Amino acid sequence: MASMGKDRVQSCWQTVRPPEFPKLDCGCNADAVIVGGGMCGLLCAYELLQKGVRSLVILEADRILSGTTARTAGKITSQHGLIYAALEKGMGPRAAQQYARANEEAVSRFAQIIREEKIDCDFSSCDAYVYSCTQEGAERVKAEAEAAGRLGLGAEFATECGELPFPVKGAVRFPRQARFHPMKFACRLAEILRDRGVKIYEHTPAVALNDNRVLTRAGCVYGKNVLLCSHYPFTNLRGFYFTRIVQSRSYLAALRGVPEISGIYLDCEEAGLSFRSASVGGESLLLLGWGAHQTGHETDVSHYKKLKEKARKLYPVSSVAFCWSAQDCMTDDRIPLIGRYRQFGDRVYVATGFNKWGMTGSMAAAEILSDRITSGKSGTAEVFSPDRVNFKMGAKNFFQTAADATASLLRGYAEVPKGSVAELKDGEGGIAAFAGDKIGAYRGTDGSLHAVRPVCTHLHCPLRWNPEENTWDCPCHGSRFDADGNVLEGPAFLPLEKRGPD
Ligand SMILES: Cc1cc2nc3c(=O)[nH]c(=O)nc-3n(C[C@H](O)[C@H](O)[C@H](O)COP(=O)(O)OP(=O)(O)OC[C@H]3O[C@@H](n4cnc5c(N)ncnc54)[C@H](O)[C@@H]3O)c2cc1C
Ligand code: FES
Repeated sequence: MASMGKDRVQSCWQTVRPPEFPKLDCGCNADAVIVGGGMCGLLCAYELLQKGVRSLVILEADRILSGTTARTAGKITSQHGLIYAALEKGMGPRAAQQYARANEEAVSRFAQIIREEKIDCDFSSCDAYVYSCTQEGAERVKAEAEAAGRLGLGAEFATECGELPFPVKGAVRFPRQARFHPMKFACRLAEILRDRGVKIYEHTPAVALNDNRVLTRAGCVYGKNVLLCSHYPFTNLRGFYFTRIVQSRSYLAALRGVPEISGIYLDCEEAGLSFRSASVGGESLLLLGWGAHQTGHETDVSHYKKLKEKARKLYPVSSVAFCWSAQDCMTDDRIPLIGRYRQFGDRVYVATGFNKWGMTGSMAAAEILSDRITSGKSGTAEVFSPDRVNFKMGAKNFFQTAADATASLLRGYAEVPKGSVAELKDGEGGIAAFAGDKIGAYRGTDGSLHAVRPVCTHLHCPLRWNPEENTWDCPCHGSRFDADGNVLEGPAFLPLEKRGPD
């Protein structure tokens, strides 16, 4: 197993370091084994513990909290872009009601845990807004306000957002939402779990699953219950989850010199701007988010430059303190997949596909899965069931996704080397010719050569060079590797083969 994620640009939250945990050194048994030490895995462990499950093991491939949780925007809200009008129409009022309830309860549960456990994580209650700057968008926002109103979410249509640096045509406001410092919260949660006897193992990837037996390099870990909280399910073919999930990347900048805003804001367009204030190391920063593209599919390689230009235009006197990117799993119908993983034993569960709303999504998953494990039922599980078939909301996306993946695959196989390895300039990377073969090569700014076989170790798709982040990105299911082939993001968990001159 390669080290995962070592050299990535850090987010503003990562100035807070998680506690360290040992590597697993032999097999063991537990009431519940949780794969993945991100927000979802930690919250599942916490809720299971609260409901009386005592013997718990968390297996983490890298360091805990080294995945998407460390790179989120940290908004805690049941307002997930424009979703309720679409849900009502596509899946009916009962499903929309369940989705709203699960996420509203998640917001309250965060507040409760933070209060009861006295977690210092800059949690503050606030209003959440989805806005539009166009008349057509404002109509959609209005329909969302009406749908959310029917679901009892206390939503209102507003015609202005005075804290934003531009006028809007309309916005939907949800009251009693929240924002926090996700790493302060999750690091403290990990300490609480450790102190209450949960066994957490780092640098211990799950490499295979055989019903309730999780295979690691140190041995087999048997769980009466197994929860897959590894962001993208690490299991390759079973369940065909890779046909239902794509990974989408977005970009964030934390700006100095911007007055604090009290609300949290999001454009109703998928790749639009997002705003919130955050306290980082005692300093108030404004988090500006932007962009959305499927991993490995981008043709534009100037996301950071464009985000910084937007920041300069909106806040001319600001400066950029941090700038980073992150990706999340998106489902075909925009609803997470939480529930039984049928293709394995009776008591194997999965939580994935949070669609960039995995703070409340992880909390909802923790409630649903802990309820199912301890009492056999959960009031909001149905809408999230991985068994659902939802052609009204998902079919178009599904076929589009399959077509996109196939097109990328063919483009990758057909990619012609730009030249030989010897012709690569310092700081340049891509597919290059070497000894009659195609290899993936990057020449560092110091002239060093980093060469790999540019084929994904998940399901063998050809990789694309991302010159903006100097990574190899997989257009099929979104795995990413650094120039030396180390895994940055799954589902792949094996490094790339080394190639080229020694
Ligand atoms: C730009 C951006 C902004 C976002 N903003 C928000 C927001 O404001 N509010 C919100 O609600 N959500 C937001 N999200 C979504 C949210 O951050 C994620 O959905 C959430 O953090 C996912 O948590 P997780 O625990 O599932 O995944 P992760 O945090 O990625 O954790 C998964 C863990 O599993 C480990 N793992 C992987 N494979 C294995 C294996 N084989 N064995 C063992 N361990 C393994 C990984 O190393 C990782 O540590 C945002 C997402 C993005 C991309
Ligand atoms: S991530 Fe599945 S083939 Fe690359």
